[in-house]
Amino acid sequence: MVYFHRMKKRILTGDRPTGKLHLGHYVGSLKNRVKLQSEYDTYILIADVQALTDNFMHPEELKKNVLEVTLDYLAVGIDPKIATIFIQSQVPEIAELTVFYMNLVTLARLQRNPTVKDEMNQKGFGANVPIGFLAYPVSQAADITCVKADLVPVGADQVPMIEQTREIVRKFNELYKKVLVEPEALVGEISRLPGTDGNTKMSKSLGNVINLSDNSEAVKAKVMKMYTDPTRIHPTDPGHVEGNLLFIYHDAFNENKAEVEELKKRYTQGKVGDVEVKEKLTKSLNKFLDPIRARREKFEKDTGFVEKILAQGTQKARAEAADTLKLVKEAMQLP
Ligand code: TRP
Repeated sequence: MVYFHRMKKRILTGDRPTGKLHLGHYVGSLKNRVKLQSEYDTYILIADVQALTDNFMHPEELKKNVLEVTLDYLAVGIDPKIATIFIQSQVPEIAELTVFYMNLVTLARLQRNPTVKDEMNQKGFGANVPIGFLAYPVSQAADITCVKADLVPVGADQVPMIEQTREIVRKFNELYKKVLVEPEALVGEISRLPGTDGNTKMSKSLGNVINLSDNSEAVKAKVMKMYTDPTRIHPTDPGHVEGNLLFIYHDAFNENKAEVEELKKRYTQGKVGDVEVKEKLTKSLNKFLDPIRARREKFEKDTGFVEKILAQGTQKARAEAADTLKLVKEAMQLP
């Protein structure tokens, strides 16, 4: 009998710790990560160094935010027994790899990176862009390659980062020796949840989020303020379901599909008021969030455990990164 010992492919994902995670994070990536963790050898990076690249004036918030993000991971069901959660700033090998990779990337190439370009415009950096910010894709290449990730599950906005990483890897492997793993983007069914104000993106900076840790009262208040069909003045007017924020959320979070269909039908017929649709949405959101909140509370009380998870994950990732750095230095014939 022949045994094929086939190791699981490795994935790396990550977030900048900018605060608590929200429903947009859940729909866009966390849900997928929870699913993928049993199929793949999963590494999750808390990118605190990257967070500094556009927020270096406020390093004092990072420590708290690293903890918040970790609590949210655990609350949604990331299992630290199978997934490795680690902190970027505690893996200095990433910084060292970044320095070597810098030689393989041109200024013009970084300026052409569409995600960097967008963010530059958004932040109004112009010619005064900090080098650390402009070069963060290089550091991200180090994040990915340090643990030898095969796959990087991303949304569309991060695809240029993976493309840039692949170019760096190919250049390195050609120039020195083939030691780096060339990663592939794993672009899932990308769903982006609109904010509670109807903006296409839910984002902390836009102030339109429902956090995973919001209590039921906060959820209710936010839902009650949500926009609905602007063409509908009275509950007896026939309403529009398509593109209607309330129904986008119902579709995403209400498990009772029959109820959603029935509400949609009555809505288009002008036989249900916004308040009932909102009350039912509040109920299903709270039903979805209840177990998440309960798990979060449990872990909040046990910060010792959470710190241990981070320490162990970081130690494991660091050992892998040290191995990669050793290979890299050997390939470059450095002492
Ligand atoms: N750039 C990602 C974001 O802003 C976070 C990140 C840092 C990341 N390093 C990564 C994502 C490596 C995937 C792989 O969300």
